[in-house]
Amino acid sequence: AYNERESLYIVLNFAKEFFVKNLLTEEGKAIGLSYFKERGFTPEIIEKFDLGYAMNGWDYLLQAAQKGGHSTDLLLKAGLILQKEGDASRFYDRFRGRVTFTIHNLGGKSIGFGARILTQDKKQPKYINSPETEVYHKSDILYGIFQAKKSIREKDNCYLVEGYTDVISLHLAGIENVVASSGTSLTENQIKLIKRFTDNITVLYDGDAAGIRASLRGIDMILEGGLNVKAVVFPEGEDPDSFARKVGSAAFSSYLADNAQDFISFMIGLHADDAGNDPIKQADLIKQVVQSISKIPDPVIRTVYVRQSAGLLEIDEQIIQAELNKIYLKSQ
Ligand code: UTP
Ligand code: MN
Ligand code: MN
Ligand code: MN
Ligand code: MN
Repeated sequence: AYNERESLYIVLNFAKEFFVKNLLTEEGKAIGLSYFKERGFTPEIIEKFDLGYAMNGWDYLLQAAQKGGHSTDLLLKAGLILQKEGDASRFYDRFRGRVTFTIHNLGGKSIGFGARILTQDKKQPKYINSPETEVYHKSDILYGIFQAKKSIREKDNCYLVEGYTDVISLHLAGIENVVASSGTSLTENQIKLIKRFTDNITVLYDGDAAGIRASLRGIDMILEGGLNVKAVVFPEGEDPDSFARKVGSAAFSSYLADNAQDFISFMIGLHADDAGNDPIKQADLIKQVVQSISKIPDPVIRTVYVRQSAGLLEIDEQIIQAELNKIYLKSQ
């Protein structure tokens, strides 16, 4: 007999293949495939990422899976179906009338899905995702890691983006060392996962207020994990996907190369607009930079950043060091 994890992998693989095959149905071609084409996704990229389509109906997957011998209990545990409210003996598909993005674990097994809406319906969430299951721990995995791991090691750098489509667009632009945090805050385990392949992360979050906030949080987490971090800011309203399509692969790659900043310069850049010569705002900036430096576990690396930030902020190294000491005294 298989254990439960094995059964979950099998039914999730069944679902993946079902969604992939749906792209070849009349409905799948007209709605799903044409959507991917509009976004510039090639047949190769669709295959590489196991992109698919969930039919617009209540129980297409449920019916097919039951015919294939999979129990509703297992489908529930895999997060693929939901129990009908008021009638616990009836079930329906979680993903309906949406394109699907397969989430793979490090070894390439299907462990969950993200499913994007195709209409402008603002009442429904843009993405519906698999819930936590026995094989899908959201805080332990990053979207795209299976397709990226080899390239992350080769390039000795990992680009970190927010969304599924950012990962795919970067691959289309020839950049394969990229993973997505899928719109949630980065976790310690996700950073450890990247650290298996490289010590260097470049954050490429969306060019909006939420993206900047998430970048700052992510930077602190990465520094705490003992990795080196850079960040790239995109023009307001652009994310890596939209920007790559707008400017083209070559210009996008140069943009990354020209705009990757260490975290101190990134923070200074964010303040540059309003800080100016305002001493209070200047002090806020210094404190923010020192806060981030305080996350770095290695004292030697910390010292390097103290020196560098003193230079960039044009203040005395000893002042930075004194601020740093204050933080450590407080935390004791
Ligand atoms: P975004 O809103 O930036 O979407 O969310 P996107 O990835 O750019 O998608 P497109 O280009 O509009 O198709 C970033 C990520 O946050 C998660 C998804 O992982 C998404 O890729 N998210 C977003 C959700 O899980 N649910 C949502 O409703 C929205
Ligand atoms: Mn876990
Ligand atoms: Mn966003
Ligand atoms: Mn986005
Ligand atoms: Mn986008």
